[in-house]
Amino acid sequence: MHLIDMIPALREALDDERARGLLVGLVATMGALHEGHLSLIRRAAAECDVVAVTIFVNPLQFGPAEDLAAYPRRLDDDTTLAGAAGASYVFAPSVEEMFPGGTLTTVHVAEVGDTREGAVRPGHFDGVATVVAKLFALAGPCRAYFGEKDHQQLEVVRRLAADLSFPVRIVACPTVREADGLALSSRNAYLSPAERAAAPVLHRALLAGQALVGRGVTEPAPLGAAMSTVVGSEPAARLDYAEAVPGADGRVRLYVAARIGTTRLIDNLEATAP
Ligand code: PAJ
Repeated sequence: MHLIDMIPALREALDDERARGLLVGLVATMGALHEGHLSLIRRAAAECDVVAVTIFVNPLQFGPAEDLAAYPRRLDDDTTLAGAAGASYVFAPSVEEMFPGGTLTTVHVAEVGDTREGAVRPGHFDGVATVVAKLFALAGPCRAYFGEKDHQQLEVVRRLAADLSFPVRIVACPTVREADGLALSSRNAYLSPAERAAAPVLHRALLAGQALVGRGVTEPAPLGAAMSTVVGSEPAARLDYAEAVPGADGRVRLYVAARIGTTRLIDNLEATAP
């Protein structure tokens, strides 16, 4: 496993791998790796010859009042974990290496990136889309692995790759959860024991929505209301949004975002009407 922190060194290494005919997979992360991230790395290692894991706490996707400074940084542990899960390269650049002199060029994915997280966190998806486009350009992966945990991000990335013709296949990976349903997230580390006990309310709200869809309810209003009621029943939780987005074939994507104390958590599930 190679740890690289400069763009030219990563390009050169991955150019060599591609010249040898090897298929390069990319797993982009902000570090503080957990089983969710590791499931992406393992999947990439199973499907690709070479796996590049990027670890970069991207300042562009944090709002001014958000947790950029506090975001957990554990490069040594992350490198060991990524290597054990099958990473061939860990790319962990500095902010200066990625954005020398700031960014004049940004990527905006309209509509897909403007609702839910995009509405609550203005500029967030521009930051994500810009850094992901840059990672695609500098790593040149054939496949890139993203978690359904961040389902709206997955849709933003799909749209970005299609619209800008990046020659990469976006692979969606299922959400990894704790036994009580809480989706793994680097931000779970911020939760006090009492907050941790309250946090599965997001998943319970999604399950309540899923049960309604299972009984044939597919309209957004009653589904949103049912999920809001569940989140509202937990005194430690403050709802940001609970939304249902109907898709094709009776499928409905359910989204919840809430603050538990000062920690903001998001989750989603797919449900299918009978
Ligand atoms: P980060 O939050 O570190 O997540 C990196 C990848 O791991 C994302 O694709 C995310 O969806 C996936 N992931 C996180 N928790 C997961 C879980 N419980 N189960 C399955 N997959 C999970 O998402 C980002 O970083 C950044 O926005 C990034 C794409 C790296 C751009 O900066």
